[in-house]
Amino acid sequence: MNRRQVIQGGLLSAGGLAATGWPGTVALAGAHRTLTAREGQTPLYPEGGQGTAIWGYDGRSPGPLLRGRQGDTLRLRLVNQLPQPTSIHWHGVRVPNAMDGVSGLTQDAVPPGGQFDYEFALPDAGTYWYHTHSRSWEQLARGLYGVLVVDEPDPPQVDRDLVFVIDDWRLDQSGAIHEASFGQIRDWAHAGRLGNWVTVNGESEHRFAVRSGDRIRLRVLNAANARVMTLAFPKHDPVVIAYDGQPVAPTALAGSPLRVAPGQRVDLMVDLGLEPGLVSPILEVSDDDQPVPVAHLDYLAEPAWRRDPLPPITAPAPNPIRTDLDLDNAVTAELLMEGGAMGRMASAMLDGRRMGMRELAAAGRVWAFNGVAGMPDRPLLRTEVGRTVVIDLVNETRWPHAMHLHGTHFTVIRRNGDPVDGGPWRDTELLDPGRRATIAFVADSPGKWLFHCHMLEHHAGGMVTWIEIT
Ligand code: C2O
Ligand code: CU
Repeated sequence: MNRRQVIQGGLLSAGGLAATGWPGTVALAGAHRTLTAREGQTPLYPEGGQGTAIWGYDGRSPGPLLRGRQGDTLRLRLVNQLPQPTSIHWHGVRVPNAMDGVSGLTQDAVPPGGQFDYEFALPDAGTYWYHTHSRSWEQLARGLYGVLVVDEPDPPQVDRDLVFVIDDWRLDQSGAIHEASFGQIRDWAHAGRLGNWVTVNGESEHRFAVRSGDRIRLRVLNAANARVMTLAFPKHDPVVIAYDGQPVAPTALAGSPLRVAPGQRVDLMVDLGLEPGLVSPILEVSDDDQPVPVAHLDYLAEPAWRRDPLPPITAPAPNPIRTDLDLDNAVTAELLMEGGAMGRMASAMLDGRRMGMRELAAAGRVWAFNGVAGMPDRPLLRTEVGRTVVIDLVNETRWPHAMHLHGTHFTVIRRNGDPVDGGPWRDTELLDPGRRATIAFVADSPGKWLFHCHMLEHHAGGMVTWIEIT
């Protein structure tokens, strides 16, 4: 086989992914499919015997890899066999508002035993994901998420296209999900419910079997509730080609670690330059003293057969998202982020009443946007389709927050007062403590769109608002 055949073999069939141990790719084109949210067992923790009881789509976590081509229509029936109501949000996908899956805002949650049909076109290529949007601080921590890959009509050439879903779980001694700590206000007021067990693609220290001389595309997703992952790839130099599904000019990491906040995706190209037979770790390095291997690149004994050197790395073509900002006529708002441990917030509004921190904590609300703890009755702003929107995010807390806007991507135009030009278009932006970022986007599609912190305990603890596009 020549290079092109190898590439197409990998991209056009599920075979390339199945070969890496990825279970059950679902090709979306034309088909009606069912995803069942139910309990299942996953061997997250090898010493745990039977595996860990999780909640997952089709009983697995990550759920089936959904794969379509740009322009395809996704038709999926969610069947709920869980003991709680649930819904699916298509994170980063420009869906019609009624398909956005936010229970309580864009749809009613699907009750146990119920079902809901999702149907929408996939306007943009790239790496997206789907996850529960009901009690997500619990349901997502139990495993209810999966990856959605939308292939470009003309994807950059690679030998293998691999998914790298990183999660951290809080397990007890037996390897079971630590249920007693769900809803613990201490976690909510700090970084969120951090785990103690990291998996990649649902396994501890997942091994990617790779070939020396190949080029892979690695689609990184951080599916953790709260932990910001900082990844290092010793002896390799990954090149970023997309953030949150949107292509960027290829940029090598050149030794700097890759920071991926909850909800974010990064597409990497990695040229595999080590000798056949070597094993090289991928590390999580957020704790400088204690880098943790989270996965391994396991070089096969046979190198790739290759006649020509690898061509330069190219990014996919841009998606048809609106980037024509009209800043002079923008609708503007400020979003003041307050609260949490060690913060200065003394009180906030909840259910129309001003409450002190103690009372708020008793109600499970320890964070606020613009002085309101939790979903406000009125949107942060209301505007028409086509208008440019500018929102000034001010993080007055002592914690980083991963701010996620539903329904459209945005770009940062000012950071801590300094203008930024030509930054990426993202759906989730990590904002460090004490920092300020001004984001801009063109109101894309009518409806009610959520805007929240993707550290899910922060969301549940008050960091949520919405915008309305008419
Ligand atoms: Cu990925 Cu509102 O969430
Ligand atoms: Cu947060």
